[in-house]
Amino acid sequence: MAPSEIHDDKTTNNFDAEILASWHRNARNWLEARQANSIPGRHSGKDTAILNAIAAHRPATLLDIGCGDGWLLRAVRDTGDCVTVGLDGAPALIESAKSQDPQGCYQVADYRDLCDGIWPECCPSKEFDAVIFNFSLFTQDIRPILSAAKTRLAQGGIILIQSLTVEHLPARSKTAGEGWQLETFNGFGDGNWAPMPWYCRSMSSWISALQDVGLQARQIIRVGRPDPLSILILAKSIEDISLFPRAVAPQDNPISGDAENSGSNL
Ligand SMILES: C[S@@+](CC[C@H](N)C(=O)[O-])C[C@H]1O[C@@H](n2cnc3c(N)ncnc32)[C@H](O)[C@@H]1O
Repeated sequence: MAPSEIHDDKTTNNFDAEILASWHRNARNWLEARQANSIPGRHSGKDTAILNAIAAHRPATLLDIGCGDGWLLRAVRDTGDCVTVGLDGAPALIESAKSQDPQGCYQVADYRDLCDGIWPECCPSKEFDAVIFNFSLFTQDIRPILSAAKTRLAQGGIILIQSLTVEHLPARSKTAGEGWQLETFNGFGDGNWAPMPWYCRSMSSWISALQDVGLQARQIIRVGRPDPLSILILAKSIEDISLFPRAVAPQDNPISGDAENSGSNL
């Protein structure tokens, strides 16, 4: 388990800069951890959960924001026809994605640029049936990047987010509630990891951030049982929901995983 600690002596702006800087520094370690299958919880349910959620919607076009080394896009394309695009702010991860998948489309992109409306050419507006954030939303105010992602959704498209809530924190931190935490990567084995600040939010905070930008959580999947590993949120644009009013209401839809509780937001 990777312990998280309260880390509250800096401003959100400082934390934002630290998040991406940590990925620049951690890229090599991350690639090694993926190769060694040593990322906590990934093989006990988290990877399968996101793949199953994508498969249930059979998107023809998929955008993965914060795609890392692109494993998810390769896995999706291995199981069916899908045009995929992966974006990430760490050049070493994009380089690895390209070398592992020369046919795939991967681009270096900082969320700040996407929020400013600067998208790589491979991301035409309103083209994606699914936009994915798989353990790649770490900042406190996620509304700008969610709003930017919404501009890429095709009609009827979905946004899928896998992350943690306060309920996944160790007991000591859980009592402190929503707030900034520090991922130390202690659970990832050896390596000189740069700690990463991340903002841990409550379930209601996820839902209200989505609502604030015109998205609605339509399904919430709790991954891992008996110990919770993560949550998966499926959201849609409210404009689409008013076009298709018979769609189901938000629901809790537990799925099982073998799972130890990793506590890692990755
Ligand atoms: C925990 S990794 C997850 C990678 C991938 N989604 C996966 O499932 O393996 C988080 C990723 O988010 C990316 N990321 C985080 N903040 C970012 C930002 N502000 N701009 C661009 N990429 C960012 C990191 O570079 C990193 O690759």
